[in-house]
Amino acid sequence: MNATQERWGSRRAFILAVTGAAVGLGNIWRFPYITGENGGAAFLLLYVAFVLLLGLPVMMAEILVGRAGRRSPMQSLGYLATQAGASRHWRWLGLFGAFTVFCILSFYSVVSGWFIEFFVASVNGNFVGLGAAEVAAGFETFLADPRRMTFTHTLFLFMTMTVVAAGVSKGLERLNNLLMPLLYLLLLLLAGYAATTEGFGPALVWLFRPDFAAVTPLVFVHAMGHAFFTLAVGACALMAYGAYMPERQSLPHAVGAVAVLDVGVALLAGIAIFSVVFTQGMDPAEGPGLMFVTLPIAFAELPWGALWLSLFFLLLLLATWTSSINLAEPMVANLQGRGMGRGRAAAAVGISVWVMGLLSVFSFSYLAEWRPLFNMTAFDLITTIPTEIFLPLGGLLIAVFAAWIMPQELAKAALGTGETGFRLWQVVVRWISIPLVVLVLVAGLV
Ligand code: TRP
Repeated sequence: MNATQERWGSRRAFILAVTGAAVGLGNIWRFPYITGENGGAAFLLLYVAFVLLLGLPVMMAEILVGRAGRRSPMQSLGYLATQAGASRHWRWLGLFGAFTVFCILSFYSVVSGWFIEFFVASVNGNFVGLGAAEVAAGFETFLADPRRMTFTHTLFLFMTMTVVAAGVSKGLERLNNLLMPLLYLLLLLLAGYAATTEGFGPALVWLFRPDFAAVTPLVFVHAMGHAFFTLAVGACALMAYGAYMPERQSLPHAVGAVAVLDVGVALLAGIAIFSVVFTQGMDPAEGPGLMFVTLPIAFAELPWGALWLSLFFLLLLLATWTSSINLAEPMVANLQGRGMGRGRAAAAVGISVWVMGLLSVFSFSYLAEWRPLFNMTAFDLITTIPTEIFLPLGGLLIAVFAAWIMPQELAKAALGTGETGFRLWQVVVRWISIPLVVLVLVAGLV
């Protein structure tokens, strides 16, 4: 297939699209609970270090492959490999990425469905006057009800696949434009309120004063996986977006802006959530339910709390929507690249992800006792293995491809900087990012 002519409407639109992909569950749901489970500040520090040393350079690698190929991930990889006289088998990396996002989207849609549930509950005023224990109990009851959860999972996936079927670059731009400023505003409000509570001081200490005693090699693996997840890197999903990147734009500038926005959202959410945790004497290591049992309580204290809470869940829903659209894109683009119509491709992807998602849904009810591996439920496994192993592995291969295999002239052009910028990127990827991923994976897993 020939190179695509489709482009994002402007440079700003590209940055917004990538930010939309990056900001999602990772920042507001996964970041707080995984930080809580891994001891706070030391984990945060590792995660930020990985964003800088791995996330950003590999993100550039991934996007530049798409930009240089201007095709679906599989085709871009195959095409660029051929140009360099390397094996066409590199295109299977695109398939591996598609498999990774398939796994991720399956639980992503289920958890985003929880946002729908909480949004509706909040609009109905169901949280008004509830204490911490009651909110937690309500959440448990919801988890144990597979029918309600299947319903919200279905609805969310349907919303996602409808937009994907229509072609990504159109509907998304306007949505992102509105969403990010509003989300920031609400998070600032929430963090500002948190500063007036007694848990604020302990929350800051917990988040920013590292205690390295608790850091094991496995904590490195968690932090690395999270850096990839939150930046949406390692599964060829941003590669798919890179194919539509405008001609004149510097990749490092775009990617730097995205990372700042992304980490900012996570920090604000973390401050707000941990302030509640310490004010209420809750357990930071509460797990995946953490934001669901803290946020209703935080908002309940504010004037018009139910209104703010509803608005907040609505914004979160939009944020996860733009992320899940990105998660679906590489699968749909690959199928489309093989000659399938976009609508049919979206339907096929939607149905398979829906079925896989049931595994996550049932993990809290019928399959609650099923521990196939490492004494973890199906939900724990699917939220851990693809993120912490597949993404770093995919990112590693993408980095090797971009910095060693593909024609370096094309890589330079696609990075969109001068010679010095390109050399710097190349050195960092070759001698820092690539060895670091290998080191962390080997040390953590062996
Ligand atoms: N970054 C998103 C989040 O933090 C999730 C996401 C979107 C993602 N697209 C991706 C993760 C591609 C891995 C690969 O919620």
